[in-house]
Parts: sequence; C-alpha cells; structure tokens
Amino acid sequence: MYTNTFERGMRAAVLAAGERIRELFLSKDLDIHEKSGPGDLVTRADFEATEIALDLLKSYFPEIPVIGEESGGKPTEDKCFYLDPLDGTLNFVHGYPNFAVSLGLWKGTKPLAGIVYNPISRSLYFANLDQGAFKNGSPIRCSSKASLESSLLATGWPYDLSMTEQNARRMKKLRNLSQDVRNLGSAALSLCYVAEGILDGYFEEGLDTWDLAGGAIIAQEAGAVVSDFEENIFDLKKGEIIAAGKGIHHMIAEVIRNDHS
Ligand code: IPD
Ligand code: CA
Ligand code: CA
Repeated sequence: MYTNTFERGMRAAVLAAGERIRELFLSKDLDIHEKSGPGDLVTRADFEATEIALDLLKSYFPEIPVIGEESGGKPTEDKCFYLDPLDGTLNFVHGYPNFAVSLGLWKGTKPLAGIVYNPISRSLYFANLDQGAFKNGSPIRCSSKASLESSLLATGWPYDLSMTEQNARRMKKLRNLSQDVRNLGSAALSLCYVAEGILDGYFEEGLDTWDLAGGAIIAQEAGAVVSDFEENIFDLKKGEIIAAGKGIHHMIAEVIRNDHS
C-alpha cells in the first residue's frame, strides 16, 4: 500500500528540515530578509529547510513535483507536494516557539496526506486520507463543542493589508460570541490545534497553497469540518478556510458571511 511509503518519506523530510530549523533557532542564527512588508520575512532557516526537504523528497519520490514557498514550482493535476519549509517565520524571528514545517500531498483538488512538524515541542502531526489523524503516533480528534460561547477560536492576519479591516470586523464579532479569538502566527499549527481540540475553530483568508496543504487534511481527518467561507468543499487554491468541529462550523461561517461593516 502506497500510504506507508508516503508517510516514511514525508516524515523524513519534515523531521530533517525541522531539526535544522531548531538548531538555527536555538543558536539565534537568523539572517533575516524582508519580503512583501515588515511582517513578511524570510530567513536562513526558510532556505536551508527548503533544501533539506527538497533533497529528501526527491530521493524518495523522484517523480512527484514539489511546490515550495521559497523554491517555486508549478502544480500539476497529478500528485504533487506543497511545502511550507517554515510556517510562522515571524514567530521564529521573535523567539516565539510556535512554527512548523508543513507538507501536503495532493492529487489535483484532492488531499492524500499531510504532515506538520513543530521542531521545538517535537510534535509531529500526520494524516492519510480516510485513515484518521495522529500526533506523535496517537490518534487525535477535534472538539465537539456545540456553542461559540464555550469555544476558543483562532485566525490570522493576511499579509495583504487591504484585508485587515474585514478581518478585524469578523474577529470582533466572533470574539464577542466566543471565549476569545487568537492569532497564533502559524496557519499550519492552528489547523493541527483544531485537529487535536486545543482550538475549537480556525478561519483565515489570503493564504497560499503551502500554508494549508498539510494542515487541512489533518484537521479533516481528525473529524473537523473544513470548508471555504461559503461552506463549500475546501479549495486549496482559494486561500480561505474555516476548520472547526461540526457543532460550531456553521456558526462561524454565518458570522463571516453576514459581515457587512
Ligand atoms: C504565515 C503564517 C501566518 C498567517 C500568514 C502566513 P509564513 O506563513 O501561517 O499564521 O497568518 O498569512 O502567510 O509566512 O510564516 O510561512
Ligand atoms: Ca506559511
Ligand atoms: Ca513559510
């Protein structure tokens, strides 16, 4: 069965990349450059993690293309990997230990497997289509909250500043209806926290394929509803996501949809 081969190679790639990120984080060897704005950064760790992951993926899966945030590549309709070598670079730069290597395997519009590795807590999240989600080998499930009032939510700020107002309005409305709305600075880990029930729901827009490709299937396989803002089936290329337990997913979507100032 191919799934074990995928798991072995994907695991090798994110673990090796993650351990290098860990070394650079602990030694504060950063080498920071700005991308689209002062909060959108890239570091030595992003580039070194990319190289390490690409080398391993090429050795395990020479025929599968890799679309990487720092390495580019063109998605195909057949299988391809989406690699975010360091999701949460701003956290990494500030010494806030909430970042991860994220890797998803998709075939066209269908997720096949996802893996997310936090090299500081050494937490490894993995999911194969139709086979459940796991953290360090143990099964995980999303929360079963039925009300926003008892829910902890999260979102993130898109790099595109023209989206800030809209997100702030949604955040405010949902903050007033829930216990709180966090911004954890890593889309991939936010999805894993939904998967393990730490967060009850997460929404964000303005994201890229590599931000979501690994975590979306992990949340889905842990029982969360994963959709776009219209509650349609999640579309990797659309860049927007709501992931939440089925008891509150629709409530979050309604607030987002009814947001008109
Ligand atoms: C970012 C993080 C952040 C999200 C941004 C992403 P990066 O990824 O996932 O949580 O709010 O939109 O781009 O740039 O650290 O890989
Ligand atoms: Ca990212
Ligand atoms: Ca990144």
